[in-house]
Amino acid sequence: MASQEGSARRVAELDTPAFLVDFNKVSTNCAKALAQCTELGVTLRAQTKTHKTIEGAVLQTGGTRRGLVTSTIQEAEFYADNGFDDILFGFPFIPHHMPRAAQLTRRLEKFHVMVDSRVAVDVLVANTPPPGKTWSAYLAVNCGYNREGVWWESSEGEELACLMDKSPSVTFAGVYVHCGNSYSASQPRDVERVREETIERLLHLVGRIKARGVACPVLGIGSTPTCSHPGPSMRQLTELHPGNYIFYDAQQMVLGSCKEADIACCVATRVIGHYPDRNQLLIDCGFSGLTKQGTGQLPSGCCIFRDQPNLKLDKMTQEVGFVNAVKGHLNLDDFPIGCMLFILPWHSCATAAMYPVYHVVEDDAVVAEWRPTRGW
Ligand SMILES: Cc1ncc(COP(=O)(O)O)c(C=O)c1O
Repeated sequence: MASQEGSARRVAELDTPAFLVDFNKVSTNCAKALAQCTELGVTLRAQTKTHKTIEGAVLQTGGTRRGLVTSTIQEAEFYADNGFDDILFGFPFIPHHMPRAAQLTRRLEKFHVMVDSRVAVDVLVANTPPPGKTWSAYLAVNCGYNREGVWWESSEGEELACLMDKSPSVTFAGVYVHCGNSYSASQPRDVERVREETIERLLHLVGRIKARGVACPVLGIGSTPTCSHPGPSMRQLTELHPGNYIFYDAQQMVLGSCKEADIACCVATRVIGHYPDRNQLLIDCGFSGLTKQGTGQLPSGCCIFRDQPNLKLDKMTQEVGFVNAVKGHLNLDDFPIGCMLFILPWHSCATAAMYPVYHVVEDDAVVAEWRPTRGW
């Protein structure tokens, strides 16, 4: 499994703060997502933004190294460099991306960009693709999240699809929605409503595209909340593209996407001080080890202290966290100076991004190190 030569360290030996990945949980989360897609008859095109590692993407693709969506072009290059293929750069394409997209189109069997503007389509149409290739492009659709994408009801979607279809330089791959509005849900029923609304809206646009005589091979939606609440309507799609599910986090737990036991990453931190007059502990994890995502969302602050329900991360400076009791009095002697605590972050994608190395653990053994790619 994950064991790597020379990595017989124990968690207790690590410098802190440290980002820990539970190998068994990550493997289970990835295997479940693949099995769920097989059961629904759709392909999993996993988002890599949460971890940005080779090892994580190998697990997400079930070892095939085929079928990813990345959030940066740098990530797409990193995966191309490491034997992956069928990669979608799932971010609004602009003319500035063209030289790097051309390289990736040349190098890979399948590289796709994502467009949501006439500017992007025009640049694809106007540029000759590498020999034997076309530019493969997904149309990003906005079904209510209101970030990237053409509005599902607008005729812009049909027009951009027709323009791509007409051009000998471009292959219109299909449609892509990231339903990030599922994160505004306050209960699973709201997530399911977003899922149904997104699919209905997307199918409406696809019907209009097809009515113009344009084939739409790929129909993809995804976010971890919607994919963690799958429904039979998803069988009408061809692709799902969640990403956060590889680690999950406190936010996904609150949204009902997972249980606390499924959260596959945490930050190890140490107690660095006792302040009895204010009944407070300090820890060596501040906002540069956790981020401030989720501040004020939980009784325990922006995170959960694993197995310590009465600890609250009250505030953070760059390198220091201030820990109080959620309720009542904290017995500081229960948390000796130097002892380790384990924090489940609110948003694992953001927290992981703070670390140049992830320590992969099985129980309290450090069995591997994963090194994420960084940059844009
Ligand atoms: C374009 C795009 N696709 C897919 C995803 C994956 O969604 P999630 O993080 O909810 O799994 C994201 C996440 O931000 C995204 O921005």
